[in-house]
Amino acid sequence: MHIHRSEKVWLTVGIAALIVFLGLIGTEALTEGIAPPSRVQTIDPTKVAQTPPFDHPGVRRVGDHTVEVYMLAHIFAFTPSTITIARGTQVTFYATSPDVVHGFFIAGTDVNMMVVPGWVSSASHRFDSPGTYLLLCNEYCGAGHHFMYGTIEVK
Ligand code: CUA
Repeated sequence: MHIHRSEKVWLTVGIAALIVFLGLIGTEALTEGIAPPSRVQTIDPTKVAQTPPFDHPGVRRVGDHTVEVYMLAHIFAFTPSTITIARGTQVTFYATSPDVVHGFFIAGTDVNMMVVPGWVSSASHRFDSPGTYLLLCNEYCGAGHHFMYGTIEVK
């Protein structure tokens, strides 16, 4: 089989690029510990309602200006749907889903994660400005997806 010289050049460039990129991803994953954030903790999605601390979702105070928020994302709501915190509070969100994949995006912040059944996703944010922050599901999860939101009141 005859392969044109230009084809050989482009094949070589393509394969070399593939090796370089896969090598970079592999090296980063091993040396920087880069991995999906949701690998941290697993949970039985059929027993979320019985598994602490998700059996009592809500806000837990862990320090003067530090809270943890345990939240369920389910069709088609967040539980709790509204939380209130003081400004200047460092909040770590923990979220899981008992049904399908949901999104967890707080507008105006860098909190943006997938909530996958069987996994606990977490993200932190310090709320320095008072106001009402919108929490949105940004993964299409079914017919009521567009009704799925919550609010974070920062006083
Ligand atoms: Cu939940 Cu979209």
